Amino acid sequence: MTHASGGGRLVVDGLEKQYLLDGAEIPVVKGVTFTIEPGTFTSLLGPSGCGKTTTLRCVAGLENSNGGVISLDGKVLSTGSRHVPPDKRDVGMVFQNYAIWPHMTVFANAVFPLQVSEGKLPKKEAKKRAMEALELVQLDGFAHRPATALSGGQQQRLALARALAHRPRLLLLDEPLSNLDAKLRDTMRNELRSLQQRLGITALYVTHDQSEALSMSDRVAVMNQGRIVQEAAPRDLYYQPADRFVADFVGRVNMIPAVVRDRDGDGDAVVEAFGTRLITPCPSGVAKGTDVTVTFRPESVRWHEAEPDRPNVVPARVVRVEFLGEIVEYEAEILNGQSVVGSIVGRGAPLNSPATGDAIFIELTPKACRVLAA
Ligand SMILES: Nc1ncnc2c1ncn2[C@@H]1O[C@H](COP(=O)(O)OP(=O)(O)O)[C@@H](O)[C@H]1O
Ligand SMILES: [Mg+2]
Repeated sequence: MTHASGGGRLVVDGLEKQYLLDGAEIPVVKGVTFTIEPGTFTSLLGPSGCGKTTTLRCVAGLENSNGGVISLDGKVLSTGSRHVPPDKRDVGMVFQNYAIWPHMTVFANAVFPLQVSEGKLPKKEAKKRAMEALELVQLDGFAHRPATALSGGQQQRLALARALAHRPRLLLLDEPLSNLDAKLRDTMRNELRSLQQRLGITALYVTHDQSEALSMSDRVAVMNQGRIVQEAAPRDLYYQPADRFVADFVGRVNMIPAVVRDRDGDGDAVVEAFGTRLITPCPSGVAKGTDVTVTFRPESVRWHEAEPDRPNVVPARVVRVEFLGEIVEYEAEILNGQSVVGSIVGRGAPLNSPATGDAIFIELTPKACRVLAA
């Protein structure tokens, strides 16, 4: 199937939005800047209340921004003072709560927006596009059922079809999978991502779920308190978080206070942590004597019964072992009282795990460690 529009290039530059609350202007989006290249998928990831939905609604035109410029393929959609109305933006939107019309059939839900919008289509063309959109989400066989006869997942696919029927150049999705159960959510992630790639549509996806953002996106922009704190490809975000907030929000992480004791020119440092010395990569701007945080992921912690003759090994005692299905997680107390969380993945995990009370050695390979400003 052909889908004519393809994807646009979205540029959001210095976006500002304030809400009036009890007579005061409260800034909720504070200079948000990002670009989405045509046909790529970007997620805005952050905790509840950080301004994700507000950013998305400004792009859609459902809110008027107070500053900054939004443009799609070079066409300015919004400045702080001038705003193109939503139906003239060539943008489709899908919400968490589906927002389908229960008293209409599946087909009517898909075709209705094409018949009432400003750029109203001839009846035949509208019908063709609505059916095409239903086919894309595999609902064409359900066209004449009442929309309420659909399951939750199907209703969300219908909402997606309705957004796609316009053949928008940009698709905006606000936590569209949050109302689905875990298993269906996984399936829908894959469906949504492959559809987006097949159509070559540009997508901006809002979520507070880090695994959703990591698994679906080309780029992830992490938001906190109205600002983007880091924008990167999923792997870079996970392995090279810019700060403690990102490290902590995106996946599980150990954060250990440390002091830089020595450092060489090409990026390695010796830091003192757990009352011992660790070799770790270290950003060039961090001087000797600086307080820092050493971070490492649970899955990169290795454990041994006997002490290996390598750097970054510390003795510890296992205080907790937890079986979580595909992974086993354990907590080991270092002799100075600090603790480290490690995890072991895979089918053999239960056999390869230490037991509570075991005296073990923890190994943090230098390349698994990362130094962040304290
Ligand atoms: N219409 C509104 N009026 C006043 N404050 C609002 C309005 N919408 C959102 N907010 C506030 O703006 C902040 C950001 O909200 P939102 O963009 O919905 O966050 P997120 O989608 O990341 O959870 C929150 O503190 C929220 O309470
Ligand atoms: Mg929201």
